[in-house]
Amino acid sequence: MTSFTSKPIALFGSLIISCFLFNANFVAAQTYQINSPSKEVSVRVSLTQEGTLQYRLQYKGKSVIQSSSLGMQLADGDLSRGFQVVAVDSTKVNETWQPVWGEVKEIKNQYHQLIVHLKQQDDKGRLLDLVFRVFDDGLGFRYSFPFQNNLKNFIVVNELTQFSLTGNHKAFWLPGDFDSNEYRPTTSLLSEVDAKKISDDNGEIAVRMVKDASSVQTPLMMKTTEGLYINLHEAALVNYPAMQLHIDKSNFKLSSSLVPDAFGNKAYLQSPFSTPWRTILVSDKATDILASKTILNLNEPTKIQNTSWIKPTKMIGVWWEMHLSKSTWDYAGTQSAANAAELEKMKPSGRHGATTANTKRYIDFAAQHGFDGVLVEGWNTGWEDWFGNWKEEVFDFVTPYPDYDVQELHRYAASKGVKIIMHHETSGSVTNYERRMDKAYAFMKQNGYDAVKTGYVGKIIPRGEYHDGQWMINHYNRVAERTADNEIMVDMHESVRPTGMQRTYPNWLACEAARGNEFNAWSKGNLPEHETILPFTRLMGGPMDYTPGIFQIKLDEYGKKDYFVHTTLAKQLALYVTMFSPLQMAADLPENYEKHLDAFQFIKDVALDWDDSKIVEAEPGDFITIARKAKGKSDWFIGSITDENKHVSIIPLNFLDPKQKYIATIYKDAPDAHWDKNPMAYAIDKWIVDNKTTLKIALAEGGGCAVRITPATAESLKGLKGYK
Ligand code: NOJ
Ligand code: CA
Repeated sequence: MTSFTSKPIALFGSLIISCFLFNANFVAAQTYQINSPSKEVSVRVSLTQEGTLQYRLQYKGKSVIQSSSLGMQLADGDLSRGFQVVAVDSTKVNETWQPVWGEVKEIKNQYHQLIVHLKQQDDKGRLLDLVFRVFDDGLGFRYSFPFQNNLKNFIVVNELTQFSLTGNHKAFWLPGDFDSNEYRPTTSLLSEVDAKKISDDNGEIAVRMVKDASSVQTPLMMKTTEGLYINLHEAALVNYPAMQLHIDKSNFKLSSSLVPDAFGNKAYLQSPFSTPWRTILVSDKATDILASKTILNLNEPTKIQNTSWIKPTKMIGVWWEMHLSKSTWDYAGTQSAANAAELEKMKPSGRHGATTANTKRYIDFAAQHGFDGVLVEGWNTGWEDWFGNWKEEVFDFVTPYPDYDVQELHRYAASKGVKIIMHHETSGSVTNYERRMDKAYAFMKQNGYDAVKTGYVGKIIPRGEYHDGQWMINHYNRVAERTADNEIMVDMHESVRPTGMQRTYPNWLACEAARGNEFNAWSKGNLPEHETILPFTRLMGGPMDYTPGIFQIKLDEYGKKDYFVHTTLAKQLALYVTMFSPLQMAADLPENYEKHLDAFQFIKDVALDWDDSKIVEAEPGDFITIARKAKGKSDWFIGSITDENKHVSIIPLNFLDPKQKYIATIYKDAPDAHWDKNPMAYAIDKWIVDNKTTLKIALAEGGGCAVRITPATAESLKGLKGYK
């Protein structure tokens, strides 16, 4: 590692090239160039004569981001002009670290860093540092405000970061909604983005708040006509609102558009402070985007000293039956109870899902099939009137319904070696949750729970705050920290999309934060392409609780003639590999798994945590094939999925140990399978394979395949043939 400070306009060793450049008017500008370790990514940072700051980015000599401005507009001043460079620092970092859980066992963190220390040339003389980290697959940069007397407490009115693109790229986007990310992604040219004209097929989204028709959310995935893949997002979102991007369609300049609070302000800050990193990933291979670890690398190492209690978790749940309207979250069906005493007097509807008896049925199934946990929703009072009325006091998170025996279920689950997973739906009343969460976590500890799923359905209280504004960002991070203090793992629904914070809080196993599988139960659903886009967008920041594994694809028998899952059954299996998460749910009902125990075997076997991951092939919106090696084992699992078109996956098994023979169990679409016409037709076969084998598997329209590869024993080889 080298580090040095120097005066501007000198020569900065090999790391930074500093020079005067002359533009057409022969106005001098001060410029620093910093290259990635491979030199494929290069970034130039310039100070113009007006003292404004610009950067640009090239990949393999091609422009990716043209000259783009940087700066901040504060309530009491403009931090975008009149700067002079006071000093520049550069550092080289090349290290490796081991995540507590993840897609790979070891992560390489290698980058070149440039810090430009700026001072405004006026009476206040305010200081601002710009930090750039250039990796082989992109750039992260952030604003850093050193402590200073003239900038102690301040309000960000606008962040002036621009990303000036080179053309009208194809984009995979969600509308710039301040409250929801549960949309179908739209694929269009940037010039065609209309965030207010989203088709009604998006279904019942609880809250919508789109103010700017030209704004989109990040991660924003794009592809240029020259075949470059570009991904814009952010890393380490702490004490700051989420960044959305406003598109200027006349020149394809994207600018940071921060989610505001009720006053329209963006962030209330104190120096010293560093913003989240703005990230630009770029490659000529789509597979490199999925393999990138840059967002994780830009996050702080874990704050949790002892991580031994953090365990990747496979669960089932008293959950899908409510989404199917087979049972209800609330005890009393459609009645409403004013308080717990009134509730005691009520008759249960007979359709309540979270009863002691039904939960025991799920615990038995979990124990029989080796699941770690059972999520139980609707166990607590409040569901009679939980949504739509913007009520302050809905749930207290500690009072069970009369037909749910917490102590007995604790005893029963423990006797079977199964954990019950807590559910805290806040219904958006976050002040209420903040007041009650310490007691709620203590209640969990007393009753043997070590994981909680939280949820934020509905408009936020404090009224005027949005799901993705600074206040809520602080809330999500506080929940991650408080649950960690209590040795509790957490899964957040309706939260902001992740930004790699799971590195810092590895107890934060997953978030939903996008449109999950559940939309298939009560809206026009997710298009067959949905899961081929999510890894390039939502999953760039972290694991998703997508809740795959629905086997009963058509939902007619639940009185839902118009609703169904928009994939084949085999594709539901593949999602356990293509959608990385250390928390995975087998989302369907036990009785639906009992009808297909042969296919269910894959869900039982599939790992949650990995030594290695190979992105075999990928194209956003079309197909994805990923092979992963189970943590600490010799087993490999492969998932391959396609959109509404057929696809043949060619999978060379060259990653296998050459000294070993393996058995591959292939779960695939039957020849006549089709996501709409025949979704449940699957076939399972077994072959002998080795590292010279190339699998060639036909995926149906909207289909997929899942493969388990396990070292062969003399016994297991009997009766099997080599793959052909
Ligand atoms: C929405 C969540 O995504 C879903 O999983 C949950 O069952 C409901 N809210 C009720 O909390
Ligand atoms: Ca949701």
